[in-house]
Amino acid sequence: MDILELLYRRRSIRKYQDRPVSNDTLELLLKAAACAPTASNNQPWEFVVVNDKDIMDNLRKGLYFGQYNAAAAIVVCANMDLAPKGPYKEYWIQDCSAATENIIIAASGLGLGTVWIGAYPNKAAVKNIQKALAIPEEVIPLSVVYTGYAAEEKEPRTQYNPKRVYWNQYDSERKHRARNKNLKHI
Ligand SMILES: Cc1cc2nc3c(=O)[nH]c(=O)nc-3n(C[C@H](O)[C@H](O)[C@H](O)COP(=O)(O)O)c2cc1C
Repeated sequence: MDILELLYRRRSIRKYQDRPVSNDTLELLLKAAACAPTASNNQPWEFVVVNDKDIMDNLRKGLYFGQYNAAAAIVVCANMDLAPKGPYKEYWIQDCSAATENIIIAASGLGLGTVWIGAYPNKAAVKNIQKALAIPEEVIPLSVVYTGYAAEEKEPRTQYNPKRVYWNQYDSERKHRARNKNLKHI
């Protein structure tokens, strides 16, 4: 499949078939995750793969915005003992986001559905995930990728908006500058 078509087809799936995802397939997703770039090639990530039904149920309970029936999940974490020290510490967020995106794109290419459930910086979600999966305090879950075989279809699309794009220099005076509809601008 053409790479752009693959990107257009990736959509968040929130209804899943009652069909397991094989360990081999989950491992392919982990390999895709580990193709992601990381700052200074630091790779601060660790992954918790969940495919046990009871543990999935426990994980799901702690995710207020993750009440979906996926068969499996990959929890993308950063181990703070592996993250850079000092001012570059926060790069772990970008590193783990890149890994998360790789997982969901690869899953889409392999015919699986996914939805990215945000964990960090939601303190309650982080705590609940750590508790459900026995993750120690220094290992911070950034995202939970639910995965399984889709039981819903979504239209391929891009949300490309030229109003969000500037070429070479930002133009604060531009008349058709995008506005957040919920915010008042003066
Ligand atoms: C950082 C992040 C956190 C997200 N958290 C959730 C979540 O908790 N629950 C959920 O159903 N979707 C979540 N999503 C998925 C978005 O809602 C979804 O990507 C967005 O609505 C666009 O739809 P699409 O993925 O089908 O293109 C999250 C996405 C990102 C990038």
